[in-house]
Amino acid sequence: MNTRILLERRPVGWVDASCFRIEPCPEPACGAEDVVVEAIWLSLDPYLRGRMNEGPSYAPGFAIGAPIVSRVVGRVLASRNARFAEGDFVWGFLDWALRTVVPRGEGLTRIDPALGRPSLAISALGMPGLTAWIGAMEIGRPRPGDTVYVSSAAGAVGQLAGQFARRAGARVVGSAGGPDKVAFVLGRCGFDAAFDYKAQDLDEALREHCPRGIDVYFDNVGGSTLEAALRHANVGARFPLCGMISAYNATSDAGIKGLPLMVSKRIAMTGFIIYDHVHQLPAYQARVAPWLRDGSLHFHEDIVHGLERAPAALIGMMKGEAIGKRLVQVSAV
Ligand SMILES: NC(=O)c1ccc[n+]([C@@H]2O[C@H](COP(=O)([O-])OP(=O)(O)OC[C@H]3O[C@@H](n4cnc5c(N)ncnc54)[C@H](OP(=O)(O)O)[C@@H]3O)[C@@H](O)[C@H]2O)c1
Repeated sequence: MNTRILLERRPVGWVDASCFRIEPCPEPACGAEDVVVEAIWLSLDPYLRGRMNEGPSYAPGFAIGAPIVSRVVGRVLASRNARFAEGDFVWGFLDWALRTVVPRGEGLTRIDPALGRPSLAISALGMPGLTAWIGAMEIGRPRPGDTVYVSSAAGAVGQLAGQFARRAGARVVGSAGGPDKVAFVLGRCGFDAAFDYKAQDLDEALREHCPRGIDVYFDNVGGSTLEAALRHANVGARFPLCGMISAYNATSDAGIKGLPLMVSKRIAMTGFIIYDHVHQLPAYQARVAPWLRDGSLHFHEDIVHGLERAPAALIGMMKGEAIGKRLVQVSAV
């Protein structure tokens, strides 16, 4: 039986399980030029919380009663399209469903087997990886000896942002919630320093771990972390603003204090959205895939099994329970 997950209601404040509906649905029919895809991995990303809201956003919100859609890696089950063959691994923005038809195969990308395991197309060698690269390297522009501070350092984007900056010769400091995440950031990802922001005062931690101040702050969380980074920034610091997850489930805008420091310290804060950089993906993959293959770049995927567990896995990711990039595996490879 095919199964899918729909948006049942819009969350107010924290998203919970009642926002989703899991239901049986018809098996997809493969019309002329169409492709039927069996989902293997669903990508769970913080931006999905924004798409559950109503109202203007850089991407349209999900409709109530319509399937949740995210990046999905799957296998072609049936194809009446010359660009795809049965058994190909593909990725695209697909419904949260076991099996889906993609009309005319539009929006599907065949995954080059040379990239490595297919899930990488939506993790280290896909959107989260390119996000880390653009933010850390093109906006942050770390120089040898710079101090780079990365928040949500144990996350999908954060783990790579720090490793990229470190390869460029920077001293990299990360913050994450809990001792296991701090151990991951220091051990597997090789950051120079890391601290548990839930257990230590931010000012104290940044004084201790960034004694020469912050030259680049890779912001994944916003809020009080961004305010603290402003206080500890050096003159001429660059702040790539990647995301502000501390605000995604908030019902009011708490604002950011300390913005006048941007003037006195000549800080450049640059927000960016990865959709503007998709043309850079092939060059990014060509550069980074060899680092994953030779083991000089570490990337951790946090896999939850079962389509029906996707809502809880998304909520848990937003609350900090995942280490690395959270994916839901819905069928065997
Ligand atoms: N600009 C773009 O195009 C783009 C693209 C991709 C992602 N992003 C953004 O990048 C950020 C990271 O995304 P990701 O996919 O790598 O997610 P992630 O970091 O793997 O997962 C989210 C993490 O956020 C942390 N978190 C949640 N609430 C927090 C709070 N109040 N304060 C501090 N940390 C909090 C949790 O880790 P702890 O346990 O450490 O708290 C949680 O594990 C998000 O803000 C996302 O929206 C932006």
